[in-house]
Amino acid sequence: MPSPQTDWWRSAVIYQIYPRSFADSNGDGMGDLPGITARLGDLRELGVDAVWLSPFYPSPQHDAGYDVADYRAVDPRFGDLGDADKMLAEARALGLKVIVDLVPNHTSHDHAWFREALAAGPDSPERERYIFRDGRGPDGSEPPNGWQSVFGGPAWERVDDGQWYLHLFDVSQPDLNWDSPEVRAEFVSVLRFWLDRGVAGFRVDVAHGLIKNADFADWHYAGEILGGLAPEGAPPPPMWDQDGVHEIYREWRAVLDEYEGGRILVAEAWVQPADRLARYVRPDEMHQAFNFEYLDTPWSADPLRKVIDTTTAANAAVGAPTTWVLSNHDVVRHATRLGYPVGEPRKHGIGIGDPQPDVALGLRRARAATLQMLALPGSAYLYQGEELGLPEATEIPDSYRQDPAWERSGHAERGRDGCRVPLPWEADAPSYGFGPADASWLPQPAVWAEYALDRQRGVTGSTYELYRAALRLRAAHGLGAGTLSWVDTPADVLAFRNGGLLVLTNFGDAPAELPLNARVQLASEPLTADGRVPQDVTVWARV
Ligand code: NOJ
Repeated sequence: MPSPQTDWWRSAVIYQIYPRSFADSNGDGMGDLPGITARLGDLRELGVDAVWLSPFYPSPQHDAGYDVADYRAVDPRFGDLGDADKMLAEARALGLKVIVDLVPNHTSHDHAWFREALAAGPDSPERERYIFRDGRGPDGSEPPNGWQSVFGGPAWERVDDGQWYLHLFDVSQPDLNWDSPEVRAEFVSVLRFWLDRGVAGFRVDVAHGLIKNADFADWHYAGEILGGLAPEGAPPPPMWDQDGVHEIYREWRAVLDEYEGGRILVAEAWVQPADRLARYVRPDEMHQAFNFEYLDTPWSADPLRKVIDTTTAANAAVGAPTTWVLSNHDVVRHATRLGYPVGEPRKHGIGIGDPQPDVALGLRRARAATLQMLALPGSAYLYQGEELGLPEATEIPDSYRQDPAWERSGHAERGRDGCRVPLPWEADAPSYGFGPADASWLPQPAVWAEYALDRQRGVTGSTYELYRAALRLRAAHGLGAGTLSWVDTPADVLAFRNGGLLVLTNFGDAPAELPLNARVQLASEPLTADGRVPQDVTVWARV
């Protein structure tokens, strides 16, 4: 029976915390759990319903913690299990739910299982937990097939005894074998471990990758980073979106349903078209799946209307809400993405010597995009720092880069470090208030001072106050649980009604008219003197 208590996620605003870059309590330059605990009150003040934490588990950090060595503990860099419990207790006291990251496609090469697999040798039960194969060619010196790693280079690595193991990501991230009952049982046990500690659910990493096509047919195309999508003209990829993954999520859903309070699964699945993605959120599977197609859509009225329609309809067909998102730790921040000419996406990061964005235009459009997103029915995810209007750090010296994609792509891709720079909280403090010392694991640009929370709090028109006002109004008007109906507009203008509000975005250079009876509640930028909506502005108005 649906209830507000168990169905909170259908309309929730969920804030992504990237632990290494959120708040550092001990001055070592790396964010940590006590740092997060101390700042949860700020997130309550912002007005979000829940947080999702990227991985904080023990890890050699070859992929910023998405290479997990132990699923039931905390990396000493971030604290310990006691700190996790304190963080969960503080969140509970503040009325915030906490979602944690689950990385089931691969472990770290430092995981006990992988070490045992290497030691045990071919045909052992220990190797059965991973995907080991003999190589091709007379002496087996060629990889079993031509699959490419998402981060660049071959997806197979040879070990001393001559066998090869599959790693769809970094060489330090061996893929698990999800045909193994032991692997399945282990993850159910990991789910219970965190559910028993009180987490509200799991963001499931690479949810579309767990099952590989049994024939391991050759497929030598390079997918987009995290795209999992076949380039045009390529046959369907044998490693992504295989039907077998759904059985796993059905089993997990049954486990979550044993717990009270509406525990959820959210899929990170780079799957298109929308009706394929919707299969992940059928009633007995996951609850949410990030709508990356929306995130990827150019800043233009027609394509946005189309993607809002098709994704909403595909989800509605299976009774699921749509889960909107504009930024995360894997993509160029939207305040920067939108500062490039429309239709010139920057998918692989930005560095010194690359064309630089128009920062003011990017922020203007980002504020408009956010107001559009937060007015759409469904759930929405925010990525830490976007409420400050934070741009991508586009001039990190390459010597600081840590994203494995940078090395593995032979420096063809700058990677994702630019969206992962530690947050500025106080303009005049060391590391802009990220921690008590100057240390910061990635260098913070000098302009970070202007974006610091203490420069924006209480300042009318600041991006922070815009987000706060939007979240307040979104709740007051029940927008997340509302229904969208389109309003006829001139080309280059997109407008819909939801929850008694008219939400209008103007993409064109001619100012757009509002209806005569419109009473503006919120606007991403000031209107013209005669009350019209300028280019790249979104307005919420009562009509
Ligand atoms: C998706 C995560 O969001 C990303 O950061 C990571 O590199 C890959 N999955 C591999 O785990």
